[in-house]
Amino acid sequence: MVIKNVALETVCGVTSVLPANTKMEVAFAGKSNVGKSSLINALMNRKSLARTSAQPGKTQTINFYNINDAMYLVDLPGYGYAKVSQSEKEKWGKLIERYLQKSQMLKAVFLLIDIRHDPSANDKMMYDWIVYNGYDPIIIATKLDKIKRSQLQKQVKAIKTGLNMKSDGIVIPFSAETKQGREEIWNLIDSWMEP
Ligand code: GTP
Ligand code: MG
Repeated sequence: MVIKNVALETVCGVTSVLPANTKMEVAFAGKSNVGKSSLINALMNRKSLARTSAQPGKTQTINFYNINDAMYLVDLPGYGYAKVSQSEKEKWGKLIERYLQKSQMLKAVFLLIDIRHDPSANDKMMYDWIVYNGYDPIIIATKLDKIKRSQLQKQVKAIKTGLNMKSDGIVIPFSAETKQGREEIWNLIDSWMEP
């Protein structure tokens, strides 16, 4: 995808009506601080259109980024953020659930996992839940720049095992610092676009 124009078009909170978009959407899920918003910035070639933070819990809404008036990148709130109250967590969970179940234009869900860590129980739940909703999760292993090259295969394997993935499941290592993996992600998304 050659990025011509990008815009944050819709922001949905827990009480919002979700947009009835007519172009393909792809969504990015994952625990707080894993790098969802940073990845979306990298895909859009923007430094900070999607707000990022070293503090977890930055993105608290579902944000729809319009790409070239051709499709949407959808930034989801992170899960597993300890400082948020139980009732707040439930509201966000319901919001994400409502989106995954209801969106007519959602083509694929990327699940981001920090390449340094084994998947958590929450990650596994999210993975299973994406599958339950009829999607084949594509894993993006984030913060690739934080590990040594020699650790890569071992970490990818740990993610596949931890999520109990099928052997042909896709794991794309990615770094928002070096942009490694960006092309591979766009190639996948491009392959889903109508000609
Ligand atoms: P929430 O909105 O809280 O759910 O978090 P998020 O998943 O959107 O994470 P965000 O993109 O805000 O990144 C969290 C922190 O990790 C920020 O300090 C980023 O700079 C950092 N970060 C994200 N991706 C990378 C990466 O690939 N490499 C390194 N070194 N840091 C990263
Ligand atoms: Mg975010």
